[in-house]
Amino acid sequence: MSKSVDKIKLVPKHEHQKLKVIPRKKLRTLIFLILVALAILFIYTCVPRNFLSISSSKYSVLNSSSSLKDSESEEFNDYYDILNDEKPKGTTERIKESGKTKNILFWTRFFNNPDWYTGKDEAGEEVLKSVQCPVTNCFFTHNKELLGDIRKFDAIAFHGPEFRRAPLPNIRSPEQFYIFVSLESPTAVLDNLSAYKNFYNLSMTYRLDSDIKFDYGKVIDIKTNEIIAPAVNPKWKTPDENFYDEKIMQKFNTKKKPVAWFVSNCYTRSNRNKLVADIQKYIDVDIYGNCGKLKCPVDDQKCLDMLTADYKFYLSFENSLCKDYVTEKLYRPLTQYIIPIVFNGGNTSRFAPPKSYINANDYNTPEELVKYLKYLIDNPKEYVKYFWWKQHYTIKSHPTYQYTLCDMCKKFNSESFMKAHHQYEDINEWYRNKDMCNQNSHIKFDNH
Ligand SMILES: *[C@@H]1O[C@H](CO)[C@@H](O)[C@H](O)[C@H]1NC(C)=O
Ligand SMILES: *[C@@H]1O[C@H](CO)[C@@H](O)[C@H](O)[C@H]1NC(C)=O
Ligand SMILES: *[C@@H]1O[C@H](CO)[C@@H](O)[C@H](O)[C@H]1NC(C)=O
Ligand SMILES: *[C@@H]1O[C@H](CO)[C@@H](O)[C@H](O)[C@H]1NC(C)=O
Repeated sequence: MSKSVDKIKLVPKHEHQKLKVIPRKKLRTLIFLILVALAILFIYTCVPRNFLSISSSKYSVLNSSSSLKDSESEEFNDYYDILNDEKPKGTTERIKESGKTKNILFWTRFFNNPDWYTGKDEAGEEVLKSVQCPVTNCFFTHNKELLGDIRKFDAIAFHGPEFRRAPLPNIRSPEQFYIFVSLESPTAVLDNLSAYKNFYNLSMTYRLDSDIKFDYGKVIDIKTNEIIAPAVNPKWKTPDENFYDEKIMQKFNTKKKPVAWFVSNCYTRSNRNKLVADIQKYIDVDIYGNCGKLKCPVDDQKCLDMLTADYKFYLSFENSLCKDYVTEKLYRPLTQYIIPIVFNGGNTSRFAPPKSYINANDYNTPEELVKYLKYLIDNPKEYVKYFWWKQHYTIKSHPTYQYTLCDMCKKFNSESFMKAHHQYEDINEWYRNKDMCNQNSHIKFDNH
């Protein structure tokens, strides 16, 4: 500051005379402006770097080890608001309307993955924008120190199946949401959840009655980009009974084998292996993975291409028959040109378009089911009709965590949702009550 004063003092005489011409009032204004400019320069160089990095809206730049101190965390929120004022209209406008950033902490790992498959220590706007989320003011991290005080997180998510391995937060704010998370069916979650009475506020699972939906896939309308399913009451277009597509017919013609099954877990609650054994009495089933002779990692694109090229049907048999438990076993083949045959405990019409799959439970016996498969093999034009929906819908298969984070962010921006009281007295009863995994199936097979 002294420098600037010197400068003014050291102005050469002729310049000084010029200055003299300027009225006193104006000179004072000039000095004031110089001081303001210096103040701005000072702030710019001294504000912590991570604050500045936010302005580039690259949240991944934020380093989790540079945790913010208590006093800073409030500014952290305010800073978003300031930035939002500067950004162009669009998504950011909506942030302004909906208020401050919501901070969500992943307390546990998710299947051993600390960042819950976001691929980032901190995820936010970028991830939400990737699925055209209408709100982007949410910030997700597994860094417990980020806000200095654990109570400052708006929500804390616990992966139910991995919870027993983590200690509980030692302090809790009544304003905070604790979220029970599970993608697994109750039959796979061994922990006794009865201990968590009046602990959770929200559920985030594959079940359609979860507060936040955590699905294995999405069916999206190509034209409107709207998510149609999974939903309790999806508005499907009516299948086109006259559908025909020459390219799909050509694909059918290259398929030399009837049925493929990819499986890693041989003996499961649903006894699907027994159902497959019965089906094999009437038609060939090629078994890939731990329970068969063939190998091909199903998440490999080459493997998916092979499925489309070689096989007509794919067995989408779930490991347990639980309400709404319909997994990537259905969505993955739907991304290809192969008809899935489903066997699950859900209502599949809530998960996939009509006439996009065959339901084993629509048949009384494996023999009847196979009879229908053979009918389709002999009538390729009928087979092709199972792809009518491809011109209307596109499938996103697991992982679809971005949609889940968006759903969460939407909820936290909804006034009515935030106003309502959320509390699970007994999460065990909600998640694992006796009606959840009904092992009965309509199709009769030798399951002993
Ligand atoms: C974050 O900081 C740590 C420790 O200072 C460093 O090892 C790491 O590479 C940094 N990560 C990023 C993404 O900058
Ligand atoms: C689970 O824990 C509750 C009490 O926390 C206990 O009453 C119940 O018997 C336990 N159930 C099982 C299956 O261990
Ligand atoms: C969450 O549940 C706990 C205990 O059940 C309760 O004390 C708290 O107020 C709830 N939080 C919210 C935001 O509803
Ligand atoms: C399955 O879901 C559809 C769509 O909501 C509904 O119309 C139908 O009644 C359901 N079927 C059963 C058996 O619940």
